[in-house]
Formats: sequence, C-alpha cells, structure tokens
Amino acid sequence: MNKNYSLRITTVLSLFIFLLYSGCKSGVTHDPKKLGLTADNAIVVSARAEASKIGIEILKKGGNAFDAMIATDMALNVTFPFAGSIGGGGFLVYRKANGETGTLDYREKAPMAAMHDMYLDENGEPIDSLSREGALAVGVPGSIAGMFAVHKKLGSLPMATILQPVIDLAKQGYVVTENQKNRFENYSDLFRKINEKEIMYSSPFTANDTIKNPQLAQTLERILKNGKEEFYGGETGQKLIALLSEHGGIMTIEDLQSYEAQWRDPVVFNYKDLRVISMAPPSSGGVCLAQIMKMIEPYDLASYGHNSEKAIQVITEAERRAYADRSHYLGDPDFVDIPVNTLIGSDYLNGRMDNFSFEMATPSASLNHGDIPGYESMETTHYSIIDQFGNAIAVTTTLNGAYGSKLYAEELGFFLNNEMDDFSVKPGSPNMFGLIGAQANSIEPQKRMLSSMTPTLVEKDGKLWMSVGTPGGSTIITSVLQTILNVEEFGMSMQGAVNAPRFHHQWLPDVVTFEPNAFGKGLLKKLQKKGYQIRQENSVILGKVDGIRVLPDGRLEGGADWRGDDTAIGF
Ligand code: GLY
Repeated sequence: MNKNYSLRITTVLSLFIFLLYSGCKSGVTHDPKKLGLTADNAIVVSARAEASKIGIEILKKGGNAFDAMIATDMALNVTFPFAGSIGGGGFLVYRKANGETGTLDYREKAPMAAMHDMYLDENGEPIDSLSREGALAVGVPGSIAGMFAVHKKLGSLPMATILQPVIDLAKQGYVVTENQKNRFENYSDLFRKINEKEIMYSSPFTANDTIKNPQLAQTLERILKNGKEEFYGGETGQKLIALLSEHGGIMTIEDLQSYEAQWRDPVVFNYKDLRVISMAPPSSGGVCLAQIMKMIEPYDLASYGHNSEKAIQVITEAERRAYADRSHYLGDPDFVDIPVNTLIGSDYLNGRMDNFSFEMATPSASLNHGDIPGYESMETTHYSIIDQFGNAIAVTTTLNGAYGSKLYAEELGFFLNNEMDDFSVKPGSPNMFGLIGAQANSIEPQKRMLSSMTPTLVEKDGKLWMSVGTPGGSTIITSVLQTILNVEEFGMSMQGAVNAPRFHHQWLPDVVTFEPNAFGKGLLKKLQKKGYQIRQENSVILGKVDGIRVLPDGRLEGGADWRGDDTAIGF
C-alpha cells in the first residue's frame, strides 16, 4: 500500500476517534453478566439522560415507540448538538408488535448543483476541508422529513403533545456534562473560523452550566405550526438557504422542496437462531453486518472465547472481506444497482473465507472485492426504544463529523451536517473515516451518500430479542456486530455486551484497532507475529453502543454505553 496514503488515513482515523471520544476513560472492568437497567414495560436509551426521559414521558402519556422516537430525536437536537441531527439525517429500523418490519431512510442528499469533481483541486486531488467544513460540505438535511413521515404512518399522539416538552427543554436549558465541556473547548477555534464570528457554542462552558437555545425553540414552534414545509421551503428553509449562500454553499430552496424521506425494505438475514433486521442501502450497515455474520457463522466462536486470538482472527478476516465489497458495490440504490441478495447469499459468502488461515493474516493488499458473476457493473448518535405495546425501534442519526460542518445556523439554533464527505470524493481516496469508495458512491446531483449506520433489531425464535446501534463512522458496523455476538455467543448481559472492549478492522487501512488497555500485550504480540498490524493509541475507544434486550422472563434490559453520557430510562 502507498505509504503516504497509509499515513494519511491512519492520521484522519486516529484524529476522528480521538476527537470523538476524548475525555472518555477506557480499560474499565465490568462484570459481563451483570444486568443493566431493567424495566417491566418500556425502555428508552440514548446519548443523553434528558432525551431518554422525554421519550419515556411520551410513552407514559400513552404514546408509542414512534411518538417517543420523534420526541427523543428532537430532544437530542437540544441537548446533544455534537450529533443531534435536525441539520442532518438518519435511518429508522422498526418492528411493530405484530412482527411487521420496515425502515425509513431520511439520509441527506447531494444538492442539485453538486458535481462529481467538486472537491478536487486542479490536479484532481481531494481538498479535504471542502467536503468536511463549511457550507459546501452540507448535504440536504432529511431529519424533519423523516420525523413527519414516521408520525404520519406510525405515530399515535398529536405532534403538539410530542414536541412541546422538547420546546420547553430548549427554553429552560440543559446541563453541560464534563464530556460536553471538553468537546466545546476542543472545537471552539474551529467554530469561530468556519462561522467567521463567535457562536453560542464557542463561548467557554464549565460542567454543570445550563445552556438555553431559544432559537431552536422558535424553530420547533414554527415547525409545529406550519408542518414539514416550514423546514423545506418556509421561513426556516429560506433562512437556511440564505446562510448557506452567504458562506459559499450551493444548496437552493428547490433542493429543500424536493427532499423526500424513503420507506425501504430492511436487510434481513439469519445467524444461527437469530433473525437480524438491519438498514439497507444507502447504508452499508445491514449488508456488511450480514456478510460478516454469515462468514463467521461456520466458526465456533463460543469455544474460542471472547476476544481470544482465534475469535479476533475470524472476525477481523470476515470484516476485511466485507469492507472490501462495501467499497466496490455499495451506494445509493436509487442511482446504482446493488446485488444485495447475492452479496449476502451463502453461494457467494461460502467461498469468501476460502483463503483465510489461522496461521497468517490475509494482507488487505492481496484482497479485492469478490467477483459476482453477471454483475455489470464522528458524528452520529444512536437510540433504541421498546415500548409497552411491544413495538421496537433502532434509530441512528448523524451530522457526520463532530458538529457536522461546524457551520452553525445561529438564527435557527442548530449545526449543519458535513455529510458530503461520505461520498467517494475521488474514487480510491479515503474519506474522514479512511473508507475508500468507488464509482457506486461517486457524487451525483440528488444522490444519497453511502453510510455505515447500522440501526438493527434482532429476533430470537421468532420473538423480538434486541434493539442495538451506535455512532462511530466506519466502526459502527463492527461495534454492532460485536455487541450482538457478545450476548449470543459469549453469554453476556446487554450492559455487559455494551461495556466489553472492542476492536475494529475495515480492509483499508490494513490495521486492526483495539480499545486501549483492554487487550493483553501477549495476545497482541501473537497477532502481530501472524501479520496483523495493531493500533492501540491511548485515547482510542470504538463506538458508543446503546441497546435494549428482551429477557427470557419478558422484562427489558437496557445497555447504555459508559464511554459517553448515554442513559437508559424505563418503567
Ligand atoms: N456519517 C457517518 C455514516 O453515515 O456512516
């Protein structure tokens, strides 16, 4: 592999993970079987206690998981500007109490004026800052369209009942945590640079300060009064476009007016006695998760032991092969033909591990995407909800990078995404997560950029068993994978599975990232001897997984990641 390339993606991935999780501790020991919060009826688990609490209050008012989703999502906009996604987009995977499943795609889209080479210099090389910071990096936001689509199809309470507690929270303010204070500090210079002035979040904060956001309260009040159109063409939309134009953006009011969220079929597959329901393209999450799980299914992971040398090898090698396919085949299904059924089918996957040996790592440079005959061709947040009626949702939403593009719509009270960087800006060049893309994920007007978000529901023996997901860019898929395996193969509780140390591999760069201080030196040395390149910087931790499991006695157990301020609340 080219040395400069390797250095560059190693640096961006390390920086991303450092910035994402700086301030968090690692190497904490937890009892893997100890239950997290349990509840008889319902649990909401999200990145912030206030958001989980608002979701639970909506359920207690008789609302269902979909009403609680809207309230929790909007409350994260107030309390978690790092990733709260009114200026971004996301994916919902749901399973109704009657077993019906589906997904909603409210991923951002490229503006109509977007061009294939819009982030390249005169030599055809990517100018990273253009796709990552400021107005040109912003994709057409999908969140408000998503919330209204969910409400229309699946909600039960009036929108006013759902949104009023969020509006009140924005007016009354939320309390800054230590993690948040550190992140605001880390980004304050960049906020000033991108916005060319002080913004609310560039002022110094201390932990326990209260932050009020009256501008966001007003935006939500207008949305409540005027509906989805307020964002997609009304006063809010007009103000958004004016701000973007002022900063050199290309998005127009027509881009907003033409945005629609899309209902899509989930990716569904079996792993032993589990039936996994996950997000379809334009997220790579479901396809990659299916590929990895199907490739490791023939191996007896439980007998190898959790995070043992053999288990790490099998998982890493399956991840390597799945991410190689991701790079080649996946993109927006409205623009490219994706052979999903073939990619996750046994005929194809059975042969994919043929060249794996426990003796030696498969170098990524020797491995390409598989051939399919006949085929022509950090920042995010997750929440899970199971309600008292038996409905379950898994929702992952994003602004892409931390605080997205860092461009802050002061009058509207939210940050705008930098999702354009999730496109393959130049096929073969890495994005901020070090992910390499191909033509399938190249920039085209109105196309959705490929995602790694993996909101996932799992059934066991035909019944709902788990809702799970995480932020973490390219590491999302592998964190969701390990959390499911920790419960299924290694007998952990939901909380234990979330707590357990994780590792990550994504084909390129050809390194395996391990959480710090959590894997023995002897084990890592043995892996190194077999040709695995190890990365374990001090500040690296992977994902902030939130999940809920249905216990055998019917109670629910929440797993909230100790790596963030994540909180499960139930009743
Ligand atoms: N922006 C991160 C993702 O969608 O995967």
